[in-house]
Amino acid sequence: MANNQLNDKVAVITGGASGIGRACARRFAAEGARVVLGDINMDAAIDAAAQIESTGGTAHAVRLDAASPTENVAMIQAALDKYGRVDAVVAAAGLSHAGYVSGERHARATEGLLHQSPEDWQRVMDVNLTGVMLVNQAAAQAMIEGGTPGTIVNIASVAAKVPLRGAVDYCVSKAGVWMLTKAFALEMTDYGIRVNAIGPGFIETPMTARAGAHAEGAARMLGMTPMGRLGVTDEIANTALFLSTDQSSYTTGQILFPAGGMFTG
Ligand SMILES: NC(=O)c1ccc[n+]([C@@H]2O[C@H](COP(=O)([O-])OP(=O)(O)OC[C@H]3O[C@@H](n4cnc5c(N)ncnc54)[C@H](O)[C@@H]3O)[C@@H](O)[C@H]2O)c1
Repeated sequence: MANNQLNDKVAVITGGASGIGRACARRFAAEGARVVLGDINMDAAIDAAAQIESTGGTAHAVRLDAASPTENVAMIQAALDKYGRVDAVVAAAGLSHAGYVSGERHARATEGLLHQSPEDWQRVMDVNLTGVMLVNQAAAQAMIEGGTPGTIVNIASVAAKVPLRGAVDYCVSKAGVWMLTKAFALEMTDYGIRVNAIGPGFIETPMTARAGAHAEGAARMLGMTPMGRLGVTDEIANTALFLSTDQSSYTTGQILFPAGGMFTG
């Protein structure tokens, strides 16, 4: 299903080692983009880049803690050094809660806001919200300086609109991503850079694997999803691709909800 829609483009994907980010990296590379994958899990990022290269794509893994201003700037600089430009960004690095480690089955879940430490709250904000802001800022600066105005896609969540029990921190961080997207998109119209968001519903990734492994958790996710199934990562990658090509050339400051029909208001 590749049409070379991103030929000669350079895409930077945070959280590119796993789940939604990894699917976006794979999809964008299949469309001809040279891809930089930034992730805190360097082994998995290297594996993802190798997988893309093994199928004829071009990819480069970079160590990134999304919460670090200097590491975001360094990741964008690595893209410039390696491939000469930045055209597209997908900000997919994220946590479901402070103790979350992607792929780890027994990550510590939050017990709800009533008992949450300020440190745990702050970590979720630092990665999920400030992390998105930092890569938006660094990438936009590179696009403006390089004369390559492009696209930015921020992975929010239905939780930007729909409150989820036991996930106040996550919901607030994603609502922040949605407002960041709208407000930054407004500023970036001056430069021809489009900034949009995606609010996935429940998608089959390591993030939902733990909840999905329990009957109660699986029923809760399916019960909120009119289509009666979880989404798959390629469905989000296709949405990200749409928002990263001229197919969406008149669209900025918007959020799309590939969420199986979930009502987000
Ligand atoms: N899976 C879902 O149902 C779902 C739904 C809505 C939104 N999302 C969002 O999609 C994004 C991707 O999640 P996923 O489901 O693919 O989970 P995932 O665990 O498969 O992927 C998350 C990736 O982010 C990386 N990461 C985590 N913290 C990081 C940090 N500080 N710096 C850099 N990289 C970091 C992880 O190593 C991992 O590779 C997240 O923002 C998540 O909130 C997921």
